[in-house]
Amino acid sequence: MNLESRIAEVRAQFDTDAQNEPDRLKSKYLGPKGLVRELFGLMKDLPPAEKGSAGKRLNEFKKELEELVSRGAKPVAAGTSEIFDPTLPGDAPEAGRPHPVMRVWDEIVTIFQRLGFDVVYGPEIENEENNFDALNVPPEHPSRDAFDTYYIEPPWLLRTHTSPVQIRTMKATQPPIRVIAPGKVFRADKPDAGHSPMFHQVEGLMVGEDVTFAQLKGVLELFVKSMWGGDSRIRFRPSFFPFTEPSAEVDVSCFICAAKGCPACKQSGWMEVLGSGMVHPKVLQNCGINPEKYTGFAFGMGIDRICMLKYGIPDIRLLFENHFRFLRQI
Ligand code: PHE
Repeated sequence: MNLESRIAEVRAQFDTDAQNEPDRLKSKYLGPKGLVRELFGLMKDLPPAEKGSAGKRLNEFKKELEELVSRGAKPVAAGTSEIFDPTLPGDAPEAGRPHPVMRVWDEIVTIFQRLGFDVVYGPEIENEENNFDALNVPPEHPSRDAFDTYYIEPPWLLRTHTSPVQIRTMKATQPPIRVIAPGKVFRADKPDAGHSPMFHQVEGLMVGEDVTFAQLKGVLELFVKSMWGGDSRIRFRPSFFPFTEPSAEVDVSCFICAAKGCPACKQSGWMEVLGSGMVHPKVLQNCGINPEKYTGFAFGMGIDRICMLKYGIPDIRLLFENHFRFLRQI
């Protein structure tokens, strides 16, 4: 009986058993009645001259198996077969993705970046000067009321629109100016299907020599066609904002029913998407820009509203409750 070939046999057997529980391997191979012990038993038949080296060899082999049991040979997870079936469907980990509001945010920003607008940001905590005074909002204007605006400690408040970023930009730079400013805004509205105390806007501002209302129309028309397709049309309605003169509300032809009339556009064929106008000369002046030399246009739109129209979401609160079952559908 050749000791080396017996060792090789036991080793091969161990390999086929290797997926068993460590405790079972231990008792089968290393226990008092184990196979390694049996190999040691063979030594008594060897000539005395070989006993020394055989004992050394067997101790090595025993150590090898002990090591394999303690690190590698782990049991297969309960309930799975030892056979790997590559045809079974895998457990794909769920991947993250942008929130629908952020997707619309990115879409809007990308369109204006292509038109040469720089993206700028302003703080969500503003002062009355930037949020109201410099924008020509009169002291008694109802939007300043604590029922509408979240005041922190005068003069600090949570900005009620992204228009203060216009002021910050114009105070910091002389024309030409061409920026958009996306961000969060806050109003003390009671939450309902159409209102949320926090929502998102994108502000646009272009100031220079000879900036005209016709250019405002051109830029917004390009925007609308990039956002909702080449067949979309826009419509300007006279409106009022203290910081623009003249002011216009902008409607886009309903992109859900192609202006035929549907619940989303209340059968009118049009959807109101933004406010706009020529920057009021007093606002330019408040920011140290000469209104004799420069003119400008500005616009502001609600990102959440556009997102709701785009995906047919009936309640703005769904956007902020973040239930996965809702978000996964979009
Ligand atoms: N700030 C206005 C709003 O929140 C929108 C607007 C921006 C209108 C710029 C005109 C020009 O309703």
